[in-house]
Amino acid sequence: MERDLARRVEKLREEIRQHNHHYYVLARPAISDAEYDRLLRELQRLEAEHPDLVTPDSPTQRVGAPVSALAKVEHAEPMLSLENAFNETEVREWEESLRNYLKVESLDTDFAGEPKLDGVSVEVVYENGVLARASTRGDGWVGEDITHNVRAIQSVPLRLAGGRVPALLEVRGEAIMRKDAFQRLNRDLLEQGEEPFANPRNLAAGTLKQLDPAVAKERPLDIYFYGTGRSAGIEARTQRELLAWLGELGLRTNVEMTAFGGLDAMLAAYAGLEQRRNDLPVEIDGMVIKVDNLALRERLGTRARSPRWAVAVKFPAQQATTRVQDIVVQVGRLGTLTPVALLEPVEVGGVTVQRATLHNAEQIRKLDVRVGDRVFIERAGDVIPKVVAVVKESRRGGERPFTPPERCPACDTRVEQDEDAVALRCPNPRCPARVVAQVEHFVSRGGLDVEGIGPKLIEQLVARGLVEGVADLFCLDAASLIALERMGEKSAANLLAALERARQPALDRLLFALGIAGVGQTVAEVLAAHFSTLERLGAASAEELEAVKGIGPEAASQVRAWFAQEENQALLRDLAALGLRPRTAPASAGAKGGEFAGRTVLFTGTLAGLTRAEAEARVKEQGGRILKAVSRNLDLLVVGEDPGSKLKKARELGVRIMTEAEFLERIGD
Ligand code: IVH
Repeated sequence: MERDLARRVEKLREEIRQHNHHYYVLARPAISDAEYDRLLRELQRLEAEHPDLVTPDSPTQRVGAPVSALAKVEHAEPMLSLENAFNETEVREWEESLRNYLKVESLDTDFAGEPKLDGVSVEVVYENGVLARASTRGDGWVGEDITHNVRAIQSVPLRLAGGRVPALLEVRGEAIMRKDAFQRLNRDLLEQGEEPFANPRNLAAGTLKQLDPAVAKERPLDIYFYGTGRSAGIEARTQRELLAWLGELGLRTNVEMTAFGGLDAMLAAYAGLEQRRNDLPVEIDGMVIKVDNLALRERLGTRARSPRWAVAVKFPAQQATTRVQDIVVQVGRLGTLTPVALLEPVEVGGVTVQRATLHNAEQIRKLDVRVGDRVFIERAGDVIPKVVAVVKESRRGGERPFTPPERCPACDTRVEQDEDAVALRCPNPRCPARVVAQVEHFVSRGGLDVEGIGPKLIEQLVARGLVEGVADLFCLDAASLIALERMGEKSAANLLAALERARQPALDRLLFALGIAGVGQTVAEVLAAHFSTLERLGAASAEELEAVKGIGPEAASQVRAWFAQEENQALLRDLAALGLRPRTAPASAGAKGGEFAGRTVLFTGTLAGLTRAEAEARVKEQGGRILKAVSRNLDLLVVGEDPGSKLKKARELGVRIMTEAEFLERIGD
């Protein structure tokens, strides 16, 4: 019976692995999603009933608990970089240098020309076919342990497939995010009022460095493998065979985009790749040409930082020229005016570009950009393009220089020079453009986290005079919401419910939401933990603020200045009158407030360093409150070994999660 069960579990895993491979690596699913879900659910059920049967390489075990820090990992063989070549001559010189080094007339080998993926290089170690460890390149010798995040990448097998599994395999590849996934993610971030990522590489790097693998799970990363580090039992004589073998083991490679042949074939392949560059699903920044024959590579060896047997041929930067149709001015949350060039739509790097930031009037003066000018714009893998130069020869005389506005384009108030004397700002706190940006920030995820309200809706609310400041959000009613475009009864009710929930925010979230200059999420947390109530914070002098660990003189004076302004005091009074009550620490926490002052905390899983009762007592000593279940009112979930469903729920609700190690550090153990 037990044996049958174990066999069934192993069979399910094998089937699921194969389907994962079909779906994520080959992009050719062999069964329907519903059938796949059924297999996965059966495995999950059996494992839940028989926890002793759970193994780390089970497909159910991809996303584990957060780690407390990224450990350092030494690479058994250094991860080198590549020499660059920028044109055909340099490629030919490289080939010649190989012949000279070996003192031969001709090289007895083909070359492999692979796309140079623009991502993050990683190493993944398989021991007896099971994923044991993954790390970043770091400085080439020592990287960071990102095993928890790499496990969450669906196309990376937790167990190698096929019959020729080596005892040890250190595979190297490039972690990337596909362009479509990147664009989708950035759109979501923008809608939530958050900063988008500049390019897929930054997003991939940022994701792999997260402590909580749930983030990586949400972001569709991929790794394309192209080589090996120290390994035992490699069955390949050429790069061509190596890629084929890695593919057999279930690892994703980029053979489809790789060319093999002599040097001329490489140069032709490079030209083809550059032409197709923008149509490819992934960002590439060139082609890597490698000696195909692995034995010959051994003879060629490496220099200090790069192998002799490979060269990276880089693409030139992606530029285009287009015409500046207008230069408009955008107004930010704090009133800063940013000039933006509106462009005749043009394709650069596969993206249609219609706007480019010009940063400030000073930058415009330096470039001498005028409306009507033909300009060079550049995308260096970045999403926000830059104007890099003006084609002065194309001027016909009618071009109009940009005059910095004397009045705000949104509210017509006279603009002022910012303290740094570079930017202009609109000083009118009621400026509709500023209000829109403020409300977006107020309801953003790091702020009050109100669901169901995006930029379009906020613009409508402000344009119709329903919202003149953030406090007005709490005066909205169903009737006025339903009267808006694209707003049904259900969405109106949902929004009102979300606003109701937002009436009792944690203090740090409220501080962030208020949009005080210099108060980002971290400063907000420090201030909330130290002062525990809005009143105490508001009464603090600049000296008292500066004395707080983690608060610099700049932030201290900005906070002081914010509270000193009558209109901000009026805002706080309005918010209080409308029932906004930040959750604060109990009086016993003392004037200073403890580490958990005013916070609600819950523990899940087994703690290693202290008992649950001890941990809860420490939280209470430091002004915190223990909750019994995960809800929107929970501020912090502390996670021990084997956390249960609470972790999942907390993630869904966006509750902050802390590992036991972080918790111990916070309480000073
Ligand atoms: S081979 C000894 N192949 O480029 C180094 N690298 O500039 C062997 N890269 O750190 C690297 N695509 O992150 C190789 N097909 C490819 C690559 C590739 C991207 C990256 C890799 C490396 C960097 C070197």
